[in-house]
Amino acid sequence: MNLRPHVGLTFDDVLLVPKRSAITSRSLVSTNTYFSRGIQIAIPIISANMDTVTEAHMAISMAHAGGIGVIHRFMPVQEQASQISRVKRAENFIVDDPLVIPADAKVSDARQMLEDANVGGLGVINSQGKLIGLITTRDILLESDPNRLASEVMTSLDRLLTAPVGISMEEARAQLHKRGVEKLPLVDDQGTLQGMITTKDIIQVEKHPDATKDAKGRLRVAAAVGVRDIDLERSLACANAGADALVVDIAHGHSDMAIDMVQRLKDRLPDVDVIAGNVATPEGVHDLASVGADAIKVGVGAGSICVTRTVTGFGVPQLTAVADCSKAGQEAGVPILADGGIRTSADIVKALAAGASAVMVGSLLAGTEESPGAVIMRDGRRHKIIRGMASLTANIDRREIDGYTDVDPTDWERVIPEGVEAIVPYRGGANEILTQLVGGLRSGLAYCGANTIQDLWEAAEFIRITPSGMIESQHHDVQAL
Ligand code: XMP
Repeated sequence: MNLRPHVGLTFDDVLLVPKRSAITSRSLVSTNTYFSRGIQIAIPIISANMDTVTEAHMAISMAHAGGIGVIHRFMPVQEQASQISRVKRAENFIVDDPLVIPADAKVSDARQMLEDANVGGLGVINSQGKLIGLITTRDILLESDPNRLASEVMTSLDRLLTAPVGISMEEARAQLHKRGVEKLPLVDDQGTLQGMITTKDIIQVEKHPDATKDAKGRLRVAAAVGVRDIDLERSLACANAGADALVVDIAHGHSDMAIDMVQRLKDRLPDVDVIAGNVATPEGVHDLASVGADAIKVGVGAGSICVTRTVTGFGVPQLTAVADCSKAGQEAGVPILADGGIRTSADIVKALAAGASAVMVGSLLAGTEESPGAVIMRDGRRHKIIRGMASLTANIDRREIDGYTDVDPTDWERVIPEGVEAIVPYRGGANEILTQLVGGLRSGLAYCGANTIQDLWEAAEFIRITPSGMIESQHHDVQAL
């Protein structure tokens, strides 16, 4: 029998030993980290690629908060690509494709277009396609003649504030403020409208100063893909839709199929970061890093809805898995993402202290407004559903997505689930939970005297505790209100 020499530990088996700290306020520490080799995030939290956790709505909130979401793959390719596009279009201080209307269109047409597209302004163009003016809702709100022409009611170009393509947000903001207008059309040398900046969009951008964004100012998002040949098509569709990273999603990531897929993706899409996983050993990290993985997810059987360990006997307690894999990750220069089993901000601090760059969370976010699925009532309280992606119903649903229209009920008996379906309490907006988690993390960094997550890696010292220590760690001998 081969036996690893060290004991496998998990979050509750240890505490972090307080260290001398020069930090005067937890607001002074930095939670910046890497999601992958090429993508930085301001908070080390990633929403899980599960169909009860991350679709576009969650991914937008995650990116706004400074983290990132991974859109799950349990939907047709085109739907996943359109979810990615929704995130990429959700926030941009420049409207790339502003709506235009011909000069001889009527006021009634302009009204209809503004209403249909739910926007506040239209460029007016002449027969050569050049911008000659702008119509805003205000221009036509009180117009009593619906047959008047766009050219008669517009604000003409000579009275408009315009700017060249490529203007910075700061400059656009200053000009809009100075002139007291709300829209800034961007016009090229030929006089063609190429974009529009609005006060509303600038304010929206400024509301999320830590948002995770690409070089064009769009929110970042990742997409999960499988390891089969047809997943190459899925990967290309997601990358074309703007996915910033692809997450190769397979329960046993230390497998030839996963290694081959990472290699194929790195060959075909060299500009997209590829995250691989899940593994639980340094050997797994080494093999995935050697084919170019840009980050590696660690966690086998640690998740709230996982039963892999009880069904197969395989897994490594999560803190040890993260610590062992992080050493290998640091040697290979690849960030390690701790995936599964995170219940509190303390678990996040411990996972990071063990060497992870960021954590992936499922059940903590499954009960939020942004997760897919309806709110259900149980015992008079609101809940949402979470299910393991290897649970019975997820397995059956996946066959339908894969095109097996005639799923035979006897198939159900052949499924060996490695996950369960469950409910979690409804918890309101994801941002409230993220605020609590990041607040706890900031305090954790301060207890360690660590200004950054990298400082935490160096300074952290764990102490093993006993079951009595665990009881002492919770509130005790009082009845909590
Ligand atoms: P938490 O604890 O945050 O864990 O809810 C989320 C992670 O659990 C993994 N996952 C599964 N693991 N069977 C498993 O063994 C499953 O059916 C399953 N579904 C999700 C996944 O890594 C996720 O990020």
